[in-house]
Amino acid sequence: MARHANNRKVSIQLRDHFPFPYTIENARDYLDLLAKRGEPGSLAIEHDGEAVGGIAAHRQEDVHRRSAEIGYWLGEERWGRGLMTEVVTAFSDRLLATTDLARLFAAPFSSNGASNRVLEKAGFVFEGRLRNSVTKDDVLLDQMMYAKVSGTVPQ
Ligand SMILES: CC(C)(COP(=O)(O)OP(=O)(O)OC[C@H]1O[C@@H](n2cnc3c(N)ncnc32)[C@H](O)[C@@H]1OP(=O)(O)O)[C@@H](O)C(=O)NCCC(=O)NCCS
Repeated sequence: MARHANNRKVSIQLRDHFPFPYTIENARDYLDLLAKRGEPGSLAIEHDGEAVGGIAAHRQEDVHRRSAEIGYWLGEERWGRGLMTEVVTAFSDRLLATTDLARLFAAPFSSNGASNRVLEKAGFVFEGRLRNSVTKDDVLLDQMMYAKVSGTVPQ
């Protein structure tokens, strides 16, 4: 998993706490963090018997407690085969059907055409552009807010 994560083309689309270079120690720290949280909201993506990526849902707090942000990544060797569309669709539909979450959202950087497209194909609806909301590598970027809400998938 660390080998697939250790890719600038992956980390450039993610928050800075997803490091580059990505070491075995970074992977161990992440697993420790998940174990402490005790929330089964983070999964590895397995393909051909190998852990090649991850997807996670992070429940929000206070009045936003029935919303969760989802985040995901896939190793470059597996890009362009429809894998993440399948994963995001199944993951989001299952969360909305089996938990009290009423809203799942993701806000890829506007430059991330592939992720925007994945969300559209997975049934998320574009809600708006968050202008100048991100600074990544000293570049100011917009985010594209997509959401899927309960009632749009079979319970
Ligand atoms: C984004 C990512 C998850 C996509 O995974 P994937 O398995 O390759 O995605 P899929 O194959 O299911 O779908 C990709 C779609 O994007 C399209 N696409 C690829 N590059 C594109 C681009 N630059 N602009 C627009 N669309 C693009 C593909 O053509 C495909 O759409 P189609 O089926 O209509 O042809 C993967 O590239 C990744 O992990 N990137 C780095 C991390 C990241 O961006 N995570 C998400 C942060 S919000």
